[in-house]
Parts: sequence; structure tokens; C-alpha cells
Amino acid sequence: MRLPVLFLFTIVLIQYGDCQSTWYSDLVSIFSEKTTQLKNYVQDKGRSFKNYVGSVQNKVTSYFKPSAHGRSLDVTTEDQIKDRFEVYLNEAEMYDSELFEVIAPADMKYKCTTDDPAIHMTTPQLIALHGYPAESHVVITDDGYILTLHRIPYAKVGNGSKGIESPRKAVLLHHGLLGSSADWVMAGPEKGLAYVLSNAGYDVWLANVRGNTYSRSHISLNSDCRAFWNFTFHEISQHDLPAMIDYIMVTKGWDAKLNYIGHSMGTSVLFALLSTKTHYNKVLRAGYALAPVAYMTEIKSPIRLLARFADDIEYLLNLLGQNEFLPQNAVLRWLSKHACEINHIEEAFCENSLFMLCGFDEKQFNRTLLPLILSHVPAGASTKTLVHYAQEIHNKGQFQMFDYGKEGNKRQYGTPTPPQYPLEKITLPIALLGAQNDWLASTADVAKLYQQLPNPIENYVVPLEEFNHIDFLWAIDAPKLVYNKLIDLLEKGGSKYAEVDVEIITNEINELD
Ligand SMILES: *[C@@H]1O[C@H](CO)[C@@H](O)[C@H](O)[C@H]1NC(C)=O
Ligand SMILES: *[C@@H]1O[C@H](CO)[C@@H](O)[C@H](O)[C@H]1NC(C)=O
Repeated sequence: MRLPVLFLFTIVLIQYGDCQSTWYSDLVSIFSEKTTQLKNYVQDKGRSFKNYVGSVQNKVTSYFKPSAHGRSLDVTTEDQIKDRFEVYLNEAEMYDSELFEVIAPADMKYKCTTDDPAIHMTTPQLIALHGYPAESHVVITDDGYILTLHRIPYAKVGNGSKGIESPRKAVLLHHGLLGSSADWVMAGPEKGLAYVLSNAGYDVWLANVRGNTYSRSHISLNSDCRAFWNFTFHEISQHDLPAMIDYIMVTKGWDAKLNYIGHSMGTSVLFALLSTKTHYNKVLRAGYALAPVAYMTEIKSPIRLLARFADDIEYLLNLLGQNEFLPQNAVLRWLSKHACEINHIEEAFCENSLFMLCGFDEKQFNRTLLPLILSHVPAGASTKTLVHYAQEIHNKGQFQMFDYGKEGNKRQYGTPTPPQYPLEKITLPIALLGAQNDWLASTADVAKLYQQLPNPIENYVVPLEEFNHIDFLWAIDAPKLVYNKLIDLLEKGGSKYAEVDVEIITNEINELD
């Protein structure tokens, strides 16, 4: 308490005294630099800064009230101020020396860490650091979310490539739950999929959906409101994906064929989009689903422990945090403890919600990347998205829309139960790339999905037993085990069905000639 009072006292001094020439000018500058720290301190205590400042101000004012000492306040009298100030200073040091350290540490200039500076870089900064051209594009969805698309338009200049050479085939990479565009570049220029594709001649676009590090703005909602976080992967599929895809098509020209590569939730949103806004089946060239999540009957992730609460949405939201799914919450800690005990994982991984939900593969994990990864994930997701997945698991693993309860569903969908996503409407050629040790997308669920897709390209299972959900992004052997195959599939393009389509179109064009 005393230190903040001291701080405000200083402000009072700045206002009344002549700071330039007084003995306390150093202190004044020290304390006036501390506004942010003080604010954080107060907010950490769960109090409103404004009210806090108000109450401290009252205290300081009453301290100078004439009534207390029977003489009038004469703040221009330097001695008086000096006396008062010294009392405060002594008291503060006596009772609150720790707090004093926090707010005005002796060694207070700059903290110099030995961290690799790359740890704190954004996606475009990392891309530039690795010698590739980087772009950021701002896209606004039809419901007001402001998203950032990142892009590597050309390959590294002087890398045997001709650099700026148009037109390049376009590919949109879509991250999974708790992820961001950084997922695709963190493994570095040798192993990151974004670079691998850039080297292979693609114009690489990297999605960031509502709620993550790069897309936390809205035209009228603040990201600390409940309304901002009122979305699941369904809203992402209905608003974010169309906005990003349309933007790329406008930039590239509508005759450009855009390939889509998704990971985890990045595949759920693709399936949800293509089965509801079906014209996107004609806009995209093909879809490539890494660790595809649609059916969820065999889940090993501790997310399944939430499924039993799925009927009580409010309860679950309260349990996990109303808005953003925050890793620092008690339930998460409980879940992570559970997951860690079962799986004997060490703390650094356990404490991170992404590893906790998706598992960790000792052999394929490059530990050099850990500090970088921990600083970028979790990148932000809504609790409602987790609830949505938990509902699906609870409801026999069906791929269905959010369950608002009987009455809510009638209002929302006109039916008492939420509709299933009609996968039979997905005419886009789709390749599935799954792994045997995937906690979220089991081979059985992926096979079932493959059966349902009208126009499948291939169901590739990574030939390594331990390969898991996250290995698709950062595994040491991801290029060998997955990306080479992926590029093969990309080059071939659609399925046989799609080739027939092209033939028919070609014939039609020939007939026109
Ligand atoms: C691990 O990551 C670092 C940093 O990107 C890289 O230099 C190194 O080659 C990687 N190791 C393996 C085995 O992939
Ligand atoms: C959240 O979205 C649902 C469905 O669109 C709507 O019924 C509900 O009122 C919204 N709640 C908030 C707090 O915005």
C-alpha cells in the first residue's frame, strides 16, 4: 500500500513542485517510469486501477488536509514536502522493502537475458530472419473479426531459385487448435513446412484465425468480452475461412487454384466449410488434411475427460474459463497432472496445454526448438471450441454442429438436436495424412472419414508407429515421412475424378474453338 501512495505522492509533487531543481528529481523520474508496473501490480491483486488511483488520491489529499494539523496546506513550501516525503520513504523502506524492490528495483534499467532473440520474434520476423520474403495481410471477416494472414510469396532469393517469378501455385496452410502461423515456420528453413513448400515453388499463405496471437481484434468487440470469444471452429469455418480464401483469390485472381493444407482443427474447419458453403468446393483445387479431426470416437487425449460434462455447457465454461481457453487455470493443471502421470512426461511439456492435449513424442521431438515453441503456443483459442469437441466426443464422436441444448438448438437450427456436417457434399478432392499414435485422430476415425468423402485422393498413414498429432509440425523426420509425400500429392493435384473433370472442361473448350 505505502509504495503506491508514495508513487502518487510523487505525482502530486510533480504537479506542485519545481522538479527540475529539487533534491528528489531522480526519484520523480524513477517513479514516473513505473506506471505500468504499478498498474500490473494493482491488477494482479484483482483491483481496478482507476478505483485504486482514486482511493490513493483521496488518502494523499486527506494527508494534506489542513484540519489534521491545524495549519493550511502550503505545498510550495519545500521543507514541508521534503519532511512528508522522507516519512513516506522511510516507512516504505521499513515495511515494504520487497514491494519497493518490485516497483523501483535498485538495478532498474534493462534486463538483459541470454535467450535467443528469435524466441520473441513474430512469424514474419522469423521468416525474414531465415532469408525469405515475408508479408502480412489484414483481412476483416463479415462478422467483424480482424485477422492477419502471413505470406511467403517467393522462395529465398539466391537459393538456386530466380526469386521473384510469377505466377506461383498458391497454398494456404491452416494451423490447428491453440496454434498460429508460427507453427509452420518454427522448425526452421530445413524442416518447416512453409519453407519446404516455398522451396518447392509455392506461394505460401499462412492462416491465423480469430482469437490467436495475430488475430485478437474485432471492429467493435474487445478481446476481454465474452461476445468476442463466443465462437467454435464452426464460426471459423463460416466466417474466417471464406474471408481468407476470398482475399487470396482476389489477390491472385479467381482463376488461380488454391491448395489447402490443414492441421488438426485446420482440417475440421475445412470439412465444415466444404459441407456447408459448398461453392468453395469449386474455388479450391484440393485439400490436404494432416492429422484430420472430424469423427472422434477413439480419443486418447485428456480432452475426453471433459466429455462427461458436455451436457452442461455453462458448467464447463465456468470450469475452463468463460472466454479464452487459458492454460493457467486449475482444471487445466489438474488435467495436465493427470496426463503427465499417465504418460510420464516432464514438466515443461506437461505445463503447456498443447502438449498436454496432444501428447509428446520423445524420439521425434527436436529439443532445440522447445524454447521457441513454448513462446508461441498456446497461441489462443476459445473455451467454446474445446466444449464443441468435447460434445462431439460425448455424442459418439459424431462430426456435428455445436449443441445449444434442446431449446437453443430449435432456435439455432430448427431441430432439437444439432445437425451433422453433411460430408457427402464435399466434392473437393481430399487427401488424408494420419498417424498411428495420434491422440485425437485415430486411424479408425480417419479411415471412417475417408470412406465418407465423395472424392478422396489417398489415405496415407505415416510409416512410423510413434508419430503423433504434433509431429506433423515439428518432427525431426517430418520432411522425410510426411512432406515429401505431401508435395507428391500436391503436384498430382486432384483425384482421378478431378482429372476427368479437367478433361471434360478441356473438351468443352476445344469444342468452343
Ligand atoms: C533442431 O533444430 C535446430 C534449429 O532449427 C536445427 O538447427 C537442427 O538441425 C534440428 N535438429 C534436427 C535433428 O533436426
Ligand atoms: C453466442 O452465440 C450464440 C449463437 O450465435 C447466441 O445465441 C448467443 O446469444 C451468443 N452469446 C453471446 C454472449 O454473445
